[in-house]
Amino acid sequence: MIIYFSGTGNTKWAASVLSERTGEKLINITDMPGTEISYKLEAGERLGFCFPVHGWRPPLIVRNFIKKLSVINAEGHYCYVVCTTGDNVGETIDIFEKDLKRIGVHLDSSFSLIMPESYVGLPFMDVDTPKKEKQKKEKAAEDLEHFADMIIERKKGIKELIVGRWPKINSRIIGSFFVKYLITDKPFHVTEDLCIKCGKCAKACPVDNIIWSKDSMPKWKHNGSCLSCFACYHHCPKHAIEYGSRTRNKGQYFFDKNEEL
Ligand SMILES: Cc1cc2nc3c(=O)[nH]c(=O)nc-3n(C[C@H](O)[C@H](O)[C@H](O)COP(=O)(O)O)c2cc1C
Ligand code: SF4
Ligand code: SF4
Repeated sequence: MIIYFSGTGNTKWAASVLSERTGEKLINITDMPGTEISYKLEAGERLGFCFPVHGWRPPLIVRNFIKKLSVINAEGHYCYVVCTTGDNVGETIDIFEKDLKRIGVHLDSSFSLIMPESYVGLPFMDVDTPKKEKQKKEKAAEDLEHFADMIIERKKGIKELIVGRWPKINSRIIGSFFVKYLITDKPFHVTEDLCIKCGKCAKACPVDNIIWSKDSMPKWKHNGSCLSCFACYHHCPKHAIEYGSRTRNKGQYFFDKNEEL
């Protein structure tokens, strides 16, 4: 079983590749009920987790899912995590490992995969150039094959992680600030002249946080469910969505956007 979350498709791609290679089924966290969930692993089944790094931490939706999860016969089953990231993961995996430990699951191996950047919510952050996007995707495809080999062989104690410089500062101090102040849908707004009311932003939202109809502009619910994954912003075909003034003149990205690259 591979449990995953993805905002802009990078992690969905990685999880699908792993599912093909291992023959194990995919479970999207956003398709799961909000209540307690319990799983019984089949004989020999691996337990895999895939998610992107958000503010040098696991995304809140992933952490909240783990709190509700009980794995009935986790002992003796191989468990791994593949985390996608624009640059580096800091202490993301340490945090996730502790979350798993609390529900009695032991993490055997962990991997990070550098993928195109999706965060555009701060003034100095933008998507990658087309050249960098292509390079990252090519390298990620190679790395993922290598990770899949190790996962298939159930290799334990592997930590193929790019933690970056200052992992403690990034995950603990900046990560905490990120969770408190930067995960919010308040700054989202639509340039009315550009919007064609197509609803793609609402369809792209993994947590159904956008109200849309053919006759009105999309509206964000402002109910605390937004993950700041920017899928809505990136999927707008008219680039009509802005995040305050912080996204002005910035690019858009999602995994399948530039298929020809
Ligand atoms: C809210 C948010 C926070 C992010 N934080 C980080 C980060 O701390 N470090 C990093 O290297 N990349 C960061 N990224 C980039 C993503 O981890 C990366 O693009 C990931 O592959 C996106 O996966 P997805 O397409 O499955 O959503 C962030 C992206 C978002 C949307
Ligand atoms: S995706 Fe863009 S154009 Fe389509 S409804 Fe949303 S804001 Fe409007
Ligand atoms: S509203 Fe936009 S940023 Fe927030 S969770 Fe939905 S798609 Fe992601």
